[in-house]
Amino acid sequence: MEKFNIAIDGPAGAGKSTIARLVAKELDFIYVDTGAMYRAVTWKVLQEGLRPDQTEAMIALAGGMEIRLVPGENGQLVYVDGEDVTGVIRTPDVTGNVSRVSSIAEIRAVLTAKQQELAKSKGVVMDGRDIGSHVLPDAEVKIFLTASVRVRAERRYREMKEAQPDVDITLERLERDIAERDRMDQQREASPLVRADDAVLMDTTDMPIPQVVEAILELCKTQVHGGK
Ligand code: CDP
Ligand code: CDP
Repeated sequence: MEKFNIAIDGPAGAGKSTIARLVAKELDFIYVDTGAMYRAVTWKVLQEGLRPDQTEAMIALAGGMEIRLVPGENGQLVYVDGEDVTGVIRTPDVTGNVSRVSSIAEIRAVLTAKQQELAKSKGVVMDGRDIGSHVLPDAEVKIFLTASVRVRAERRYREMKEAQPDVDITLERLERDIAERDRMDQQREASPLVRADDAVLMDTTDMPIPQVVEAILELCKTQVHGGK
């Protein structure tokens, strides 16, 4: 099958990474989780103890970092300068700071260039916030995944409780945090979270994962191969 690119955007907990990974597997494409790249920079910023006003130092840090995404058995592994940071980039501390760090235009420019490089040979499923609108405006297939904030919070809550049953978090708190992150991602000046004009909207509030994957594979057939 001829290679093409798929851009999947949407707010936190919409199912982007789960769906993107499964679609990539079906098509034998490469999955690129751009959120993991913003998380990796944020982790490094916290690690270095940079204050929120040290923007120049953050930009320099992002420019000098080597971020590698490597397919693993249980999902994608993330390396920063050779160190495996897959787990540590998902801590509440990183999650609570990532929207602030990713609102810096120069950091976005560094990561956008890396993402475009990864997609240049095509055969990539890339998920994030600005992929269809900014990073890969020519992607052959664009999807904007969404779901109600309550359902997205419930999904994350279930996920966290399964991983760590005694985790100290309430559904209400998660819902508030997710809504706040959505707001920051949508309102920032530099390539905000937005549905590209030509992205297909999929509301997954009541859609189980296999149904979403199936719908995207169908869309690929009609949009890229004219239904063949
Ligand atoms: O998985 P989750 O939805 O929690 O978030 P993520 O995809 O890991 O992304 C974390 C954060 O990175 C988002 O809230 C955005 O602030 C930022 N991000 C971005 O600005 N642009 C992207 N293309 C991807 C993520
Ligand atoms: O990447 P994003 O933040 O958009 O979402 P995710 O991490 O892929 O999905 C968040 C959680 O929702 C995962 O536990 C998925 O298994 C679950 N999910 C679901 O239950 N139904 C869907 N249609 C999509 C995701």
